[in-house]
Formats: sequence, structure tokens, C-alpha cells
Amino acid sequence: MKKHNFNAGPSILPDVVLENAAKAIMDFKGTGLSLLSVSHRTPEFESVVNEAQALMRELMGIPDNYKIFFVGGGASTQFFHMPANFLGKKAGYVNTGVWTKKAIKEAKHYGQVEVLATSEDKNFSYIPKGYAIPEDLDYLYICCNNTIYGTEYHTDIDSPVPLIADMSSDIMSRPVDVSKYAIIYGGAQKNLSCAGVTFVIIRDDMLQKVVRDLPSMVNVNTHVDNNSMFNTPPVFPIFVLNETLKWLKSIGGVEEIYRRNKEKAELLYAEIDRNPLFRGTVAKEDRSLMNICFIMAEGKEDLAPEFMAFAKERGMVGIKGHRLVGGFRASCYNALPKESVEALVACMQEFEQLHK
Ligand SMILES: Cc1ncc(COP(=O)(O)O)c(C=O)c1O
Repeated sequence: MKKHNFNAGPSILPDVVLENAAKAIMDFKGTGLSLLSVSHRTPEFESVVNEAQALMRELMGIPDNYKIFFVGGGASTQFFHMPANFLGKKAGYVNTGVWTKKAIKEAKHYGQVEVLATSEDKNFSYIPKGYAIPEDLDYLYICCNNTIYGTEYHTDIDSPVPLIADMSSDIMSRPVDVSKYAIIYGGAQKNLSCAGVTFVIIRDDMLQKVVRDLPSMVNVNTHVDNNSMFNTPPVFPIFVLNETLKWLKSIGGVEEIYRRNKEKAELLYAEIDRNPLFRGTVAKEDRSLMNICFIMAEGKEDLAPEFMAFAKERGMVGIKGHRLVGGFRASCYNALPKESVEALVACMQEFEQLHK
């Protein structure tokens, strides 16, 4: 039976990327050696890093005054690397759920954190708006897509202070005006690669703004100065990332994937809103295109385990909602084909017929 992979991350990657990764494990670029057993300092691998940076720059329209580096440790490591580098006195955070809470906790090791706004009052089911951003902050920190709750910023906000954004779960899913951000970072294991590599896109002026003496691995300059090769980088995930970027370019880039992502999300949200057995959990204007959360309608809660089993029998994988929200979450990342969303919608409609 065909499986429909709605996993929240690590998650679905394009077939061609998996095929090329498998081939490179056996023979990397005709070297006769496996990608897993060559030095990262070979010209063959350095060209992978350079190509990935160039493609990211091209596909996202990253201006020349930004650097890109790849590093291990996951987005969670950046939760403390960012304040270690840039929090001298006070930073502003917008609290939109688990991932910003974790970032806030780490930032408090380095300085004062002002939570400028939070959506905790409604279990993080919306994106706070209309808060003031003090001009004396070292930076403002946001998480653009909240993987667990299914909320997403749909516009790039204007900030009078450097804006740092965690884009782990919506990177390259939609066009972004990079010039509005000082730093964009994220774990690549959703839209760009397998687990193991973190991308950091950083504006040049930030490299001069490091506020304290830091161990080499923590200082952003180390990774920029050494072109992601200060230590052994995550070779395999970087290769997979580059293949994913090549795939994205081949299908028409970020504009095209955005069109596809909107189409998939509209299809599923329309069914959630129409089907009397289900309802959405998030303010409509803040609904994520990537992580689509829904629960059983009021009075139908008892049907949840039955629907889960029903969907599983029809090949749906990874649709169990996070325990903090409950219900269901269909992660519809870039590589998820529209057919998978159609299959889930058909499954919801079939379930409705069964319970008429
Ligand atoms: C938005 C967001 N930020 C950060 C993280 C943590 O990433 P990592 O596991 O790479 O540390 C995740 C993981 O799912 C996430 O979804």
C-alpha cells in the first residue's frame, strides 16, 4: 500500500533526492568511494557546500551582504548560540509556543529577556500582533512557523532592531524578504534535508556585533571565516540538502513551491471546515501551510482513536497531533505531493459517510 508521509520532522524528501543520496553512498561523484567515507576537505565535497550556499542564495534571493553557513547541533543549539553571540543586555522574544519557550529559557543564561507578546492564553493558537518593539533591544526573536500548534507568520514583520528568526519548519516554503531579517536559521530536517545539519543565514553587520568572548564553536564568525569547515561538518545531511535545493530549482523554485503549498493547504483546510466531524484549532488568518492541525468536532471526540486507525489502514503516516494540542496534525512540507493531501481528504470524507 502507498504510504502518505505526513511526519512533522524528520519528514518526507523528494524521491529523486533519496535516489541520489543512495547512489552517492555507493559512489560519490565518480570517486569510487562512498560519500560516507571521503574527507570533507576534498574538492568534491567543498563543491557541494559551495553549490548549496549558491543555490540557497539564488532560490531565496539572499542579498550579497549576507553569509550562509552549515553546522551541526540542530536548531536547539542555536537557541543558546544566538543569545551567546548577540544578547548583551536585553532581547525581545515573541512567545508562540514550545520552540520559543525553549529559546527564551536558553537566552536567560545570557541576559534579560523581555517577552513582548505571547499567545499562551489560547494555547498558542494564534500569532500575536500589534505589540510595541522597544528600540533598545539587542534583537527581536520570533519563530516563523510553530510546528506543534500549526501557526505561521504570513508576512515578514518590520523590526527597528535586528530580527532573528527560527525558520526550521517553513524555510523555503514561501517567498521571504530576507532583507528584513538579521539572521534566519533552522534545523534542515523538514523542508531541506535529513536530520543533522542546521543552516544559518546572517547579515554581515551582525558578525561585528558579537557581544562577548566565546568558545570557537559558539562564535558565528568561526563558521563564516572557515566556510562551514572549522570542524568536520555533517557531510551527509549537507549533501542531501544540496540535492533538495537542486530539486526545488528544477521544479520552479520558491514561487512554484509556494503555489503548490497553498494549493495543498487550501484543500485540507477546506475539508476540515466543511466536514462536520472535524474542526481546526488555529485562528484562520494564522493557519500554517506546513503543519495543519485539526481535532474532532465537539461531541465527536470519542471518534478520534477510530479515525486514527481508519487513516492508518489507508496509508496515512504521522498524523497524530502533538500531545500539547491533541487530535491530528498533517505536516505538508514541500516534498509532500498533492496526491497525499487528496488521499487524506478522501479518507476524511469516507469516515464521514461511515458516521452519517
Ligand atoms: C520550529 C522549530 N524550531 C526548533 C526545533 C528544534 O530543532 P532541532 O531538533 O534541530 O534542535 C524544531 C523541531 O521540530 C522546530 O520545529
